[in-house]
Amino acid sequence: MTTPKFREPVGNEKGGWWDEKEGRTLPYGRRIETAWERFRTEEGIPVFEGVGISDCRDLPRGDWRRVGGKGTYVQLIGTNNTYGMFVVEVPPRSALNVQRHMYEERYMVVEGRGSTEVWKSGDSAVSAFEWQPWSLFSIPLNANFRIINSSSSPAILFATNTAPRIINVFQSDRFVFDCDFNFDERFGGNLEDYWKSKDELEHLPAYGRAMVQSNVIPDTVSAYLPLDQNRGPGHRWVSPAQAGNTTLQGWIAEYPSGRYAKAHAHGAGAVLFCIRGKGYSITWPSKEGGTTPWKDGKGDLVQMLEYGPGGLISAAPGPSDWYHQHFSYGRDPWRIMRCTGGIMGNPGFEGGRGDEHKVGDLIPIHRELGQGGNAIPYHMQDPWVREYFEAKCREEGSETTMPPEVYTESGANIQVMED
Ligand SMILES: [Fe+2]
Repeated sequence: MTTPKFREPVGNEKGGWWDEKEGRTLPYGRRIETAWERFRTEEGIPVFEGVGISDCRDLPRGDWRRVGGKGTYVQLIGTNNTYGMFVVEVPPRSALNVQRHMYEERYMVVEGRGSTEVWKSGDSAVSAFEWQPWSLFSIPLNANFRIINSSSSPAILFATNTAPRIINVFQSDRFVFDCDFNFDERFGGNLEDYWKSKDELEHLPAYGRAMVQSNVIPDTVSAYLPLDQNRGPGHRWVSPAQAGNTTLQGWIAEYPSGRYAKAHAHGAGAVLFCIRGKGYSITWPSKEGGTTPWKDGKGDLVQMLEYGPGGLISAAPGPSDWYHQHFSYGRDPWRIMRCTGGIMGNPGFEGGRGDEHKVGDLIPIHRELGQGGNAIPYHMQDPWVREYFEAKCREEGSETTMPPEVYTESGANIQVMED
């Protein structure tokens, strides 16, 4: 489309784009392609767009010239221009291309065994570590790295990164992919120990909940998750801090069998990736659907996805606040990773600017409707939610472990699961 030459408005005309049928008195804006979207298209691999997928391994993968191997972008609704996610397949006994980039990136191994070499620009010392299914590792910002599949079958990895934000800010491939600056603060000192996994638990500074600083977690399926109980008895949770990342953190949680979270609503961006067990999530627009969509004849607004290991969902796909609710219906605990999410106190955390609170203030979190929060108490939820969950557990041969009292007003504050 050619851009018409600028003409100053005359008479009642207004500045802006216009619809020829209406004349120029009603101004319009136009959605334009972002630098990230242009980059993603030029990559030449398939792009999956949707609310979620039961198993990301099912997506078709195309030859990926820049990265090597085969890949597909997974751009879940609510993450566009914020997080990049992709699946990459490394052929047997081969390696992906050497890469280096100015955005943070984290990999979850879904299938295969191999290793990754990481080194600084202008330095011949190469550090390396091995990985296996369900290993989680992060590449330090702008370090050189090479992902190697040492096995005789393909390796499949799922990655999350902050490429959209960085590409949209700088709009220069030369800077994003071809800068030799070493971030020694993140990847420096004694690199021999850099890739040794660590399991010491600390407080996550903003939440006081558990954090583990380990650049590699060798097996997220069996890794020890400490009790957290913010989502009720038996709920386990840890937030991995890796490679000095400032804009990419998230968490790993385990939901006991037969339990489910309260529905709650917030802005888009949270993506949950399953690493163990069976679960499903539901999500619907809070404004249009209200708190009881089925009872009110609006069940068609609700989206549902069952997903197991390798599956992922955009919990609140947006654009406005969407309610979402997660259900652990399998016989084993359900383990999921929130693979997006920034770090409170750093840019990118939940879009908050911090204007509302002074440093050191306590900030209420996880509150219900009527308490200043947006979680639907169990006794106020749509009756269909409980009926469907109990039927699902019966079908699976598991049992609901929700205490019946939580479905009463007086038992509303029994902590079962939230979020
Ligand atoms: Fe949420």
